[in-house]
Amino acid sequence: MPETTPRGLSRLAFGGDYNPEQWPESVWDEDVRLMREAGVTMVSVGIFSWALLEPEPGAYDFGWLDRVMDLLHDNGIRVDLGTPTVAPPKWFYRAHPDALPVTADGTRLAFGSRGAICHSNSAYRAAAAGITIRLAERYGDHPGLAMWHVHNEYGVPVSACWCDSCAAHFRRWLETRYGGVDGVNEAWGTAFWGQHYTSLEQIDPPRTAATVGNPGQALDYKRFADATMRENFCAERDILHRLSPGVPVTTNFMTALSQCDSVDYWAWGREVDIVTNDHYLITDGRRTHVNLAMAADLTRSVAGGDPWILLEHSTSGVNWQSRNPAKAPGQMARNSLAHVARGSEGAMFFQWRQSRRGAEKFHSAMVPHGGTDTRVWREVVELGATLDSLSTVRGTRTQADVAVLWDWHSWWAQSLDWRPSVDHDARERADAFYEALYDRHLTVDFAHPEADLSAYPLVVVPASYLMTQEAGRNLARYVENGGTLVVSYFSGIVDEHDAVHEGACPGALRDVLGLTVEEFSPLLPGQQVRVTGPDGPELTGDVWSEFVVPRGAETVWTYADGLAAGHPAVTRHRHGRGTAWYVSTRLTARGLDALLGRAAEDAGLPSRADLPHDVEVVRREGASGSFVFVVNHTATEAKVPLDGAGTELLTGERTAGRLAVPAGAVRVVHLDG
Ligand code: GLA
Ligand code: ZN
Repeated sequence: MPETTPRGLSRLAFGGDYNPEQWPESVWDEDVRLMREAGVTMVSVGIFSWALLEPEPGAYDFGWLDRVMDLLHDNGIRVDLGTPTVAPPKWFYRAHPDALPVTADGTRLAFGSRGAICHSNSAYRAAAAGITIRLAERYGDHPGLAMWHVHNEYGVPVSACWCDSCAAHFRRWLETRYGGVDGVNEAWGTAFWGQHYTSLEQIDPPRTAATVGNPGQALDYKRFADATMRENFCAERDILHRLSPGVPVTTNFMTALSQCDSVDYWAWGREVDIVTNDHYLITDGRRTHVNLAMAADLTRSVAGGDPWILLEHSTSGVNWQSRNPAKAPGQMARNSLAHVARGSEGAMFFQWRQSRRGAEKFHSAMVPHGGTDTRVWREVVELGATLDSLSTVRGTRTQADVAVLWDWHSWWAQSLDWRPSVDHDARERADAFYEALYDRHLTVDFAHPEADLSAYPLVVVPASYLMTQEAGRNLARYVENGGTLVVSYFSGIVDEHDAVHEGACPGALRDVLGLTVEEFSPLLPGQQVRVTGPDGPELTGDVWSEFVVPRGAETVWTYADGLAAGHPAVTRHRHGRGTAWYVSTRLTARGLDALLGRAAEDAGLPSRADLPHDVEVVRREGASGSFVFVVNHTATEAKVPLDGAGTELLTGERTAGRLAVPAGAVRVVHLDG
């Protein structure tokens, strides 16, 4: 059995992508000296090194990597060793130009960047296996090896390929899934627009067509592309397990970045030995620390609640947005520890030493261009010491209060063309509900719609357009057994093939919600509706409204204007021993808070109104004890009530009853007991 924590790592993971091949060997000694000074415990090596490790087909140059591995090991730094299969060398593409991916409109991408791979290409598969075998044979039992890092961020920058090999592979995938062409015709509804096929051979990838294509085909192609990348991951993983027994294998995820929307991480989470994630702050005007918390919660959920590792984030600015702000003093530590609070067993970075050349030279690093006499370096050293003082949290699990449903397949289906409104965005609703729960100081686990939800008093369904009947039954059972459910509009509409469930919408949920929706009535840009309730505040919605017909549910808020005036806007349905809420418009943050307040009461959740806004309080628990993380994102000191007494691990101070956390700071209390 492969291990599930990095081999030989007895502290939290702290370090970054280390690319010594970009530097003369004379710099390497300084690198490890500085790594020791900063308390680095692990680095990721060799992720893009194929062209240097195998400069000619079958001719290997491992000398430099031997020296790097030994140097790191001699200095007590563990190695997360990459298989460089995300960046095949130029000689490979010269011999196999068809391994370069083709876009939906038929353009073949060129060599010269990274990640340009057709995952169906058999020459690529053979070459990737070849270099992986070589690396595993050479380093599989190296004493410095902590874990294997396969590839890099599957799905980015290329999420799928539309070439002829992929077409053939897609047909085989369809054969396995549907047993033949009749099954495909049925699933995709090809009676529509004359799309009927008489053999699987006629089926192609959903290439650029005259107008919108078949949605079932488009959705299945997303599934196929994801499954094909996963096949390649599993092939490498199996080689590593065979030749490097026991050493855990990971690949770095990007669970919550909307740039990476093509990977079903529920499925990937089951295939890796350790879940690892990359997270970068997106500068889009929203609260970056909320997005960070969501990414961390989603990553932990994909890991089944087990500890995971933040494998990449940035010390300061990135370089791939239009505008890349630096991090404020203290923000790097706050970001790092917020990930640890939510289950990460450390905080690692892209990258160790800032590059002088190449496309990422303006991306921040642990050792900036300016060297050690810099703010970033001083904060890096300080963070190393902080993480060292938190070693005892290893192995504990973050405690969640509520569950939010999340399903990549539903997101894919929802994002296809010709929906009732382009302004409705499933991911935006997930973010908004998450933010509302975050502001109520509730810690969130994400759950697949068919997962066991019985542990959660409250389950929120932001916008789960695609929902199987099985998932619908799962939610109904959850409510019948006493759970409280909150469902947002445009949920439970279609099945796994993007076919509308039989009968009135929302087919998968109408019984548990006690209503039907007769018509969607999306709003125009700038248009708002007022929503009033007998005992609640007046709320505002935009983007969406609909004609809801209660069939057992009571109306709590009503549309006061717009086309749906007089119709229910928010309903509540007693079902079995529980309650199901439904909201049929896009409420603002204040509206979501009012709705969740009512639902939280039904669920018997404690009010955390005594906790200050933008101060995160998260708990990790396990064999080594109970830890309360408090992350103060505000510019003033925060006072936070504590259940009992304990030792604050960053300052070593005793604390009881109430904890003062300075502006922008983090405190971690190990509770007595
Ligand atoms: C990704 C990649 C890294 C690097 C960083 C920069 O996460 O995995 O190689 O490009 O982005 O932010
Ligand atoms: Zn292809």
